[in-house]
Amino acid sequence: MKFFDYKGKNLHADRVDIAFLARKFKTPLYVYSRARLIHQYRKLARFFELSPTLICYALKANSNALLCRTLQKEGAGAEVVSGGEILLALRAGFESSKILFSGVGKTREEIRLGIGRGILSFNVESFEELKTIAEEASKMRRTAPVSVRINFPIEAKTHPHTVTSGRLSKFGVGENEAFKMYQWAKKQRSLEIVGLHSHGGSQLFSSKPYEQAAKRAGNFLRRLKTQNISLSFVDMGGGFGVGGEEEKDLKLSRIARAYAREFKDFPSMKLIIEPGRFLVAESGALLTRIVYVKGERKRKFLIVDAGMNDLLRPALYGAHHPVIPVVKKKGQSGIFDVAGPICESADIFVRGERFVSPQVGDLLAILNAGAYGFSMSSQYNSRPRAAEVLVDGKISRLIRRRESFEDLVRTEPA
Ligand code: LLP
Repeated sequence: MKFFDYKGKNLHADRVDIAFLARKFKTPLYVYSRARLIHQYRKLARFFELSPTLICYALKANSNALLCRTLQKEGAGAEVVSGGEILLALRAGFESSKILFSGVGKTREEIRLGIGRGILSFNVESFEELKTIAEEASKMRRTAPVSVRINFPIEAKTHPHTVTSGRLSKFGVGENEAFKMYQWAKKQRSLEIVGLHSHGGSQLFSSKPYEQAAKRAGNFLRRLKTQNISLSFVDMGGGFGVGGEEEKDLKLSRIARAYAREFKDFPSMKLIIEPGRFLVAESGALLTRIVYVKGERKRKFLIVDAGMNDLLRPALYGAHHPVIPVVKKKGQSGIFDVAGPICESADIFVRGERFVSPQVGDLLAILNAGAYGFSMSSQYNSRPRAAEVLVDGKISRLIRRRESFEDLVRTEPA
């Protein structure tokens, strides 16, 4: 099902003409489809119906409250990685008992916040952190729920920046260290062991690393059982790849079946998954306007009003985001690079794409930009951050206003 599609010559988001949104809210503008978001959530939930599953949305992909609220109403929990994200998740309506807190550098302050708010679990990433949580919980006269994040010896194939397991990764701990941590945690009055966590990487297109991780997790659970340690859930992380040709290769049903198979000895244990990108990437597009057309025969550029400060992924990971015209034209076509206004040579969205008679003022849509788009945006080059709009059928709603010059200087002394 497509939610960004042409009706005649004009690109629409659901039933709203995108050119209308650009006129009303100006550019650069993030546009999201509520229907697409819900479609993705339900699609994923259907795949994992085999086991009782809680889908915890990884807020880092896009933490806009309205998108979060839409997922929360569908039944989702939240996976967070900072005190800020705990507060955002609560503000968006997620129940604290459905919030998981991951991250290698949780501060004491963030740990106290998590304990105080009664989150579902800390995904603990080192022995030192486990001891710190025990200490803080004890000082607060509370019991902190913990899961150990295990870094299984599996190398997932993806961009090196988005691999989160294997030898070189800073995330989680090895199986033997994890085993010691569970044994230690069992003896602490201020800790309650609730689960096991693992997350192998992001934008993965093969089910293999998931199947391998499930097998290792199953074996690890049996090892824990010998110590009389049983868990209420196993959290196998997110990372499901979307967008592009490779997507056809991602066999979610295989992953779901592997989980059901490997964990069948633990029928009272719940499965948790932590998708970010899968839910929001294709639900969003970044709308931009051509400011200049420049160049000579060999190198021609469309300079647009969005930059790498708005969408960093092409510059940082070499990620491909299709760029398409908002109004289809007739006429002569040419080959162009699409570049932003930032003073960096990496500020290129696509290279060597064909466009039909592009002109100053024309609108372009950069697709699959809903995940790690706005959430990784910055004010680099002193550019106020973009606005965000949510489309629901034929209604559009501003869900974050555009920043102004005042927002750039707000935190400096006058
Ligand atoms: N759980 C944990 C513990 C994670 O570290 C991540 C992502 C997720 C869940 C969600 O992964 P997803 O389903 O969205 O792939 N900025 C990069 C992606 C970094 C992902 C980091 N961790 C990008 O734009 O591709």
